Amino acid sequence: TRGGPVIAVDGPAAAGKGTLARKLAEALGLPYLDTGLLYRAVGRLALDAGQDPAQPAERFAQALTPEDMQRKDLRLPDAALAASKVAAQPAVRAALVETQRRFAARQGAVLDGRDIGTAIFPDADVKLFITASPATRTLRRFLQSGGDPAAPDAQTQLQAMEDALRARDEADASRDSAPMRVADDAYVIETDTLDAQAVLAEALRFTRERLVAARG
Ligand code: CDP
Ligand code: CDP
Repeated sequence: TRGGPVIAVDGPAAAGKGTLARKLAEALGLPYLDTGLLYRAVGRLALDAGQDPAQPAERFAQALTPEDMQRKDLRLPDAALAASKVAAQPAVRAALVETQRRFAARQGAVLDGRDIGTAIFPDADVKLFITASPATRTLRRFLQSGGDPAAPDAQTQLQAMEDALRARDEADASRDSAPMRVADDAYVIETDTLDAQAVLAEALRFTRERLVAARG
């Protein structure tokens, strides 16, 4: 048995998973793991080695260090694309499973990603699926990365970002190995009309209800 609850936060790109998961962890006094960073770091190592991230990348997943996870360039769009390509490889996913499970073993945890509630912790105490339309998510990522909505080419930039975001979602949802999908017992939060604070309130309400019910 675990020392605390496991809370899974899954969903598509730039839905607000990380923002929510971090605050949820803070509110509940649990450790937080951004599992996307694992795949981003593996993608980066492949790029550093001059390798196409679609080529076998298992050795980079096995050699991952804590320093690799702290690189500033993991948030850049090329790392996201590389992450999605290495993440489609079953051997890469297999190499990262234990790291994620071990993270929650001692005190429980909040983890955000694509397959936390479906593959990493199918028995998670609470499963949340955070989503929003592609246009909303694109605008969030654009603003988050310092984009200027008043720039003359803002529309062109947004369109290019939305195309990339949709393509990555499609790849993540259609791969054979732990595809992104809503777990049967997940609580879906549609966030198009909710700010981050409202999402947190709704997620906390559901989480507390679940944890209390489980205690019986
Ligand atoms: O982790 P994920 O890629 O799902 O998204 P994020 O990096 O947590 O959030 C993307 C951006 O959306 C951040 O700048 C958040 O402040 C913002 N945002 C949000 O997280 N939730 C909302 N309901 C609205 C905006
Ligand atoms: O922040 P954003 O949602 O854009 O991306 P991320 O959560 O950092 O994930 C980057 C990529 O890693 C995703 O597009 C997935 O291909 C992969 N990933 C995954 O396959 N499984 C996870 N648990 C987390 C990320």
